[in-house]
Amino acid sequence: MLKTVLAAAAALSMGATLVVASEPSAKSPIEVARSAEKGSLKNPYTDENAEIVEQGKKLYFSKSCNGCHGGGGGGGMCPPLSNDVWIYGGDDDTLFRLIALGTDEISKDGYARVRTENVKGPMMQFGSLIKTEDDMWKIITFIRSNYRGGESNKYGTPPKP
Ligand code: HEC
Repeated sequence: MLKTVLAAAAALSMGATLVVASEPSAKSPIEVARSAEKGSLKNPYTDENAEIVEQGKKLYFSKSCNGCHGGGGGGGMCPPLSNDVWIYGGDDDTLFRLIALGTDEISKDGYARVRTENVKGPMMQFGSLIKTEDDMWKIITFIRSNYRGGESNKYGTPPKP
């Protein structure tokens, strides 16, 4: 009997661990970017969700993204995030990896600059400063909310320069 109880407890605790591990919001962005199949990452939020945009904005400022990209993502010292020029591509998957791993690392994975902006230089890794996958998607949602380019290029495929 005791054996059964112990086995059940062990199974339960294993189950609990599994639940935590499969909860997307708890995983670190670096872990997610490294383990997910290329092209498979998709933002669960849309920028019509004002509450998420607001949370993303707070995160964006707290991680100092604004220092380089401007408060509204319009650029400054670094490339604007609000126009239709997406340096490596504008899809969710590419932006997630770029911010999480940094541009040097995604370049090793075969990502390359397909467009250039006012500044050409690497961006460092932010995946350890941004604690969870969920926070990363909120930041990306805030970036989407600042988009000012043509509607058809919001998620990539910028017009030829
Ligand atoms: C020290 C300056 C700096 C900081 C801080 C910074 N970035 Fe960047 N970011 C860059 C540079 C430089 C590039 C261009 C990289 C390249 O061309 O390889 C870039 C590129 C990007 C791009 C792609 C832009 C495009 O047009 O395709 C996104 C998205 C981005 N950054 C988001 C962020 C977010 C979110 C944060 C905060 C978590 C952040 N950045 C913090 C310098 C910075």
